Amino acid sequence: MENQAKDKQEAERQITWHSMDITRERREEMLRQKAVTVWLTGLSGSGKSTLANALERQLAASGRHTMLLDGDNVRFGLNKDLGFSKEDRVENIRRIAEVAKLMNDAGLVVLTSFISPYRRDREEARAIIGDAFMEVYVSTPLKECERRDVKGLYEKARKGEIAEFTGVTSVYEQPKHPDAAIDTSGRSIAECAKELWELVERRMTEKEGNERGTR
Ligand code: ADX
Repeated sequence: MENQAKDKQEAERQITWHSMDITRERREEMLRQKAVTVWLTGLSGSGKSTLANALERQLAASGRHTMLLDGDNVRFGLNKDLGFSKEDRVENIRRIAEVAKLMNDAGLVVLTSFISPYRRDREEARAIIGDAFMEVYVSTPLKECERRDVKGLYEKARKGEIAEFTGVTSVYEQPKHPDAAIDTSGRSIAECAKELWELVERRMTEKEGNERGTR
């Protein structure tokens, strides 16, 4: 029923899906890797971007082809029209998920670093990205994020100078079953990144194994 409605909608918009000869599988073969998206979620100041950066360096050092999408940076370009209302955050995450999927189609290992506070949106991202999706919860407690206050935003939020600030005046819904949870307080970034790197490499190996099994 849902598919019929979608087909009808597409027919009305006069668009057709084109199949490409150079597929994701072909691109993955060329790059000698499996495309995955490592979706980092957590509070501002939890260490997502620092961790994503360290993980990307490790992946690059082991010859992986990667791309990192970061909340603050993407909001300078693609998503510069979006703010922090619920509606805008939903759209922020939807666009990022679509971009991550396109980059996976190009065969890349994608790392994303966004608060992505709503469970439903992360599930939507999982639905868009498919089995390449890995959810990593950077679970550093609010108290520690606020103590760090790298950008001085928590202080401003407490004074009421920033509206709808995640963890203060806007919700963060913790993942229930993430692929990994990492608390960066009291641990070195290198150690956390290594743990994630092993997880990503394992996922790639599993994907290779699964595909061999279905051939
Ligand atoms: S998300 O909620 O839509 O996923 P995103 O990760 O893109 O957020 O951007 C978060 C970054 O924007 C924070 O690290 C912080 O630097 C900045 N920021 C500015 N205003 C807010 C706000 N109201 N809530 C959270 N982060 C904010």
